[in-house]
Amino acid sequence: MDAILVRGNGPLKGAIPIAGAKNACLTLMPATLLSDEPLTLTNAPRLSDIKTMTQLLQSLGAEVTSLQGGQVLAMSSHDLTTLTADYEIVRKMRASNLVLGPLLARAGRAIVSLPGGCAIGARPMDIHISGLEALGAVIELKDGYLHADAPRGLKGAVIEQRFASVGATENIVMAATLAKGTTVLKNAAREPEIVDLVKCLRAMGAQIEGEGTGTITIEGVDRLHGATHQVVSDRIELGTYMIAPAIAGGEVELLGGRRDLLPSFCDKLEAAGVHIEETAKGLRVAHATGRVQAVDVKTEVFPGFPTDLQAQMMALLCTAHGTSTLEETIFENRFMHAPELMRMGAKIDVHGGHATVTGVERLKGAPVMATDLRASVSLILAGLAAEGETLVRRVYHLDRGYERVEEKLSAVGARIERIKGE
Ligand code: UD1
Repeated sequence: MDAILVRGNGPLKGAIPIAGAKNACLTLMPATLLSDEPLTLTNAPRLSDIKTMTQLLQSLGAEVTSLQGGQVLAMSSHDLTTLTADYEIVRKMRASNLVLGPLLARAGRAIVSLPGGCAIGARPMDIHISGLEALGAVIELKDGYLHADAPRGLKGAVIEQRFASVGATENIVMAATLAKGTTVLKNAAREPEIVDLVKCLRAMGAQIEGEGTGTITIEGVDRLHGATHQVVSDRIELGTYMIAPAIAGGEVELLGGRRDLLPSFCDKLEAAGVHIEETAKGLRVAHATGRVQAVDVKTEVFPGFPTDLQAQMMALLCTAHGTSTLEETIFENRFMHAPELMRMGAKIDVHGGHATVTGVERLKGAPVMATDLRASVSLILAGLAAEGETLVRRVYHLDRGYERVEEKLSAVGARIERIKGE
């Protein structure tokens, strides 16, 4: 298993290109199942999660061809050979459940394994299920699989989600594109990845309004056609690399970055004293003079502070002047990076969904263990600011969500390398 070795060093300088969004791509890929014509995605990120989704779609009979080194995905779901998403693939990645809505809408049937537990909490699927049931599906749990049937097709309905789940919104919107009549989805998720999905579905001929707001209205159509769609920039990769100069010093331009993708996060960084400037090519981020200031952070659904940037923000606040609080409201059990950061000299007190962080002047390098995707990158960020060497083990989590992290950070002057088989 590979490890990443980071040596704390001086200020960073240069530019980092931001890849296409993993989470957008993972919902855009299953959209191919809605049509028998080809769907091509450009600006796709090159990540192991995308390979897992490729395998899943191929296991269903779709053709997925990776072009231009993986940045273009040419897909065709002309013939589906099975409607079962197997546990062996689904267990690797929760986003596999995003084939449920499209399969049901296209074929009237889907058998999808439940994803099972996940390191950052229970993550049930009740909101997906009740939404699809409202569209007329009959869903039963048998042998760990959801068996969903809609032999006479889906019918539009008014659905109100008990929580604005990202995945459930995606499954329901995709399913409703081919339902008979109108679907009104209330308390819909407003994340930029949903907006991107709707843009793609519209290019495929879907009739949808209200994306980016709490109410999405979908007018069902008989069929969707082929399209080519460019995947939106990855706002979580963007936020992660915005923290790099904030924690290590220096000035970095994030190419393709947009402030509207991360409104609350940008506000919090600025409150901590970090400079953010919009440029013609993206966002330029510069270190504050002296230490950053403590701030209080609460994760929330979009446009609130994203849970996927909480670990990285915690790493920054470990070096802030003063005491910060972090409240995690989206996932239970998402402070697993805290004990690892404490091995680097951070002062953190975790109590339930709250953490109190008292900043220290300088973190110290240490061998640490990645526990999940965002936790692993927070340890790398901490390593950039620490005295001495930090060895981050179990980086397979990192490869699920960050493309060429060591190359991107080395290019702006970080001393970081991958150690094979550590
Ligand atoms: C997506 C993102 C993930 C991000 C999360 C929140 C992808 C592939 N993943 O995950 O990176 O952290 O949004 O921004 O896009 N819940 C239920 N019942 C359900 C569905 C969800 O209780 O039926 C709960 C979950 O357990 C969790 C919370 O709702 O506590 C958020 O989940 P959700 O918004 O669905 O996140 P995902 O789509 O899984």
